[in-house]
Amino acid sequence: MEWTSKKIRETFLDFYKRKDHQIVASAPMVVKNDPTLMFVNAGMNQFKEYFLGDSEPKNVRVSDTQKCLRVSGKHNDLEEVGVDTYHHTMFEMLGNWSFGDYFKKEAIEWAWELLTEVYKLDKDRIYISVFAGDKNDNLELDGESKEIWKGLIDETRILECDRKDNFWEMGETGPCGPCSEIHVDLRSEEERAQIDGKSLVNEDHPQVVEIWNLVFIQYNRKANGELVDLPNKHIDTGMGFERLAMALQNKKSNYDTDIFMPLINKVVSISGKTYGATDSKQDVAIRVIADHVRAISFSIADGQLPSNIGAGYVIRRILRRAIRYGYSFLALNEPFVNKLVEVLVAEMGGQFPEIKLQQSLITKVILEEEESFLRTLEKGISRFENYAAKNQDKNIDGKFAFELYDTFGFPIDLTELLASEKGLHVDMQEFLNCLQQQKDRSRAATIIKTDDW
Ligand code: ALA
Repeated sequence: MEWTSKKIRETFLDFYKRKDHQIVASAPMVVKNDPTLMFVNAGMNQFKEYFLGDSEPKNVRVSDTQKCLRVSGKHNDLEEVGVDTYHHTMFEMLGNWSFGDYFKKEAIEWAWELLTEVYKLDKDRIYISVFAGDKNDNLELDGESKEIWKGLIDETRILECDRKDNFWEMGETGPCGPCSEIHVDLRSEEERAQIDGKSLVNEDHPQVVEIWNLVFIQYNRKANGELVDLPNKHIDTGMGFERLAMALQNKKSNYDTDIFMPLINKVVSISGKTYGATDSKQDVAIRVIADHVRAISFSIADGQLPSNIGAGYVIRRILRRAIRYGYSFLALNEPFVNKLVEVLVAEMGGQFPEIKLQQSLITKVILEEEESFLRTLEKGISRFENYAAKNQDKNIDGKFAFELYDTFGFPIDLTELLASEKGLHVDMQEFLNCLQQQKDRSRAATIIKTDDW
């Protein structure tokens, strides 16, 4: 069978429907009512209150595919995106939940059944990790999960890992618990014969990746760091849809799946460049753009316009990152990101109708942002180049970086990026001093104004 992404998603939801789960819609990716979170960073966010016991769910078993964005706060992957082949700003998280109903045994056995009997992933390419315990939190090895896994997979394929990888928390506070991760090894037979896949688990190998996390939510982390037991035990799982597609479509990169290829093809046709050739910067740029247009479009569809503050600023920065990569590495100096929206809608509008409904607004907003930022970029980059040419071998003066930022609206992270490409670095201390002085000045200015009144 050909595992198109559409088929993968449908199969997941259908599997859990047959296990008596109610299939629900993804929550909007933009969070409006939680001071601890700007964007949805995990499928469980919309169910937080059920875990905490603050309200009762209508159904104790649910499943969905959730739009997630990991670009701020505790889970932030932005800098990896595009540089590697398996992180994203926006991604879909396939999940199933139990609110005080089934627990470890069913969660583990069903995950195994779905992966190996339905999707038919090769069992010899799967590794499992369980929580090894943690002295500080006074928690022991999750022996219960290990025993359940031992009934399904050879013990040598089970790893015990510490809290960094196997204790999942939504943020600094909130529902949390030990977890058990499922990893797949997608390397070639030769590579596998040379190096044991087990030694590559959690080592940032692009083809030995975590695909599914099964979290056993049992605690609430309080602001003082203390863990308290929740009234009930819950299941919260999250599978990376794009990674699963990479595995089932026999690809080496998420971007080579049918989720991203239509977008990549469009960038290739707009820019006249090639993808997958030798120029790695060009490839990174194409991946960055294919990734970022999804995050931006879905954020706008969910009600977050680019702006200068808070969540709006995060979106503006993601969009600017895409524009700047296109500008610098693909010679795209006319607006182009907005032209990808059409492709995105054709690919994802079926599962997420909001993107279709908002297509013209999304396209217009992106176009306006592009026009204004391209003007800024041109001015800023030429100033930077002049400066760098005149000050050979020197590091970038923080005052100059501040001037670019303050007078010309040129983002400091871009100055840092330009500098690092020349093997230079920006004097950030000086930049921050200037920033602080400017803040103090504007505060003082406000005070005088108030006095006048
Ligand atoms: N909430 C878990 C995660 O995001 C499933 O990994």
